[in-house]
Amino acid sequence: MKISVPATSANLGPGFDSVGLAVTCYLRIEVLEETNQWMIEHDLAGVPFDETNLLIQTALNVAPEIHPHHIKMVSDIPLARGLGSSSSVIVAGIELANQLAQLNLSDDDKLSIATKIEGHPDNVAPAIFGNLVVASYINQELNKIVADFPETALVAYVPAYELKTSDSRQVLPQELDFKEAVLASSVANIAVAGLLTGDLEMAGRAMSQDRFHEPYRQKLVPEFAAIRELGQKYGAYATYLSGAGPTVMTLLPKDKKADFISALNKELPDMILDLEVDRKGVSVDD
Ligand code: HSE
Repeated sequence: MKISVPATSANLGPGFDSVGLAVTCYLRIEVLEETNQWMIEHDLAGVPFDETNLLIQTALNVAPEIHPHHIKMVSDIPLARGLGSSSSVIVAGIELANQLAQLNLSDDDKLSIATKIEGHPDNVAPAIFGNLVVASYINQELNKIVADFPETALVAYVPAYELKTSDSRQVLPQELDFKEAVLASSVANIAVAGLLTGDLEMAGRAMSQDRFHEPYRQKLVPEFAAIRELGQKYGAYATYLSGAGPTVMTLLPKDKKADFISALNKELPDMILDLEVDRKGVSVDD
């Protein structure tokens, strides 16, 4: 059995902790023979090989009775870069428990479990459903809308350094002034309405005017301003900090993508990912 889970890009500017998009990089696990102890074969730096691995911890949390297996884990999702690598492992762990213990979980059940573990739904929801997901999680109550993301090129600039979500959340304010919160939420409303109606010009302008988190986090990602400026030269709809960063995502018309990537490559020769929207979410193959 094989389980595949897409990477995700959360926030999309002002959709802080609420909006996320599945993209075409994947965590893949293959479940092999039963063993006496969990054995996770992989080549990811700093990730445990035994049952302390987040994949197994999550699976055992959902179904403590499942038997140990030999598992192969391969991921092309950069770690600690704002592309939902740990959410993908949590979703894979839930699916592993679902399959091994034959729990028949619905996607909404999986979302509920994953959100409780993660604390917010913006990465785990698109990892489960694919596409664009707009969600809220208040007093343990989850609401979500899954929608088709408009056709666009997605270019991720992935810096060589890691940024832990916990560190990136520490620079955020404890409180927002009421007027500021109203302005910030009006920007988020336009961003979401633009995405849902396919108006990328309008959505992109709002996505680039976030007031919830990007103003505070920009100092952690010094390349951000230069990439946004370069994007504007190439007709980008939006440039935003992917999740908690440090990846910077640019949305632009498909015919501008190649020129933008080559200009970006000249200016900042780190990893650049040419992505598309994943429209499927978590999947299982026998
Ligand atoms: N919404 C989260 C954040 C995503 O920006 O901190 C990363 O977990």
